[in-house]
Amino acid sequence: MDLKERIENVKSVFPKGRTALMAALHEVQSEYGWLHPEGLKLVEEILGYSETEIFSLASFYHYFHLEPAPRYKLHICTNITCMQKGAYDLLKEAVEKADPKKVLVDEVECIGLCDHAPAALLNGTPLHSLDRDRLLDVLEHPENYDRGYRATYGDLKGLYGE
Ligand code: FES
Repeated sequence: MDLKERIENVKSVFPKGRTALMAALHEVQSEYGWLHPEGLKLVEEILGYSETEIFSLASFYHYFHLEPAPRYKLHICTNITCMQKGAYDLLKEAVEKADPKKVLVDEVECIGLCDHAPAALLNGTPLHSLDRDRLLDVLEHPENYDRGYRATYGDLKGLYGE
């Protein structure tokens, strides 16, 4: 599906409220790596939100990038369980080895995967029990690990759909 179809799909899954806007912004960022104006124009057209409404939501969340950013974002958890399992060594290695045009590396608070520490998210896709070798592979081939947000929409349809 292209971006337009994916945003239309978001609208069908979340027909009411602002959940659709949030999900559509994830789609735009997944497509471009940041909230590109072309993608936001589609959000305006399909969901009917104004530019002001879109920016007021997007600027509230650290996760959304209003300026150009790499397509892939690796968020490594450094809370206590992951820290005890070497998360800071992984974070240091990732910052040193990542191509900044390809992967943006950042820390994140606990992501609820403590029993599989050290853990991380790649564009929202959970990465369990990370070790150095897999981390380097993620940095080299992030496209092999990114499952994106779309996989979850179908599961939520029963909760939010009509
Ligand atoms: S402490 Fe890292 S996932 Fe919970």
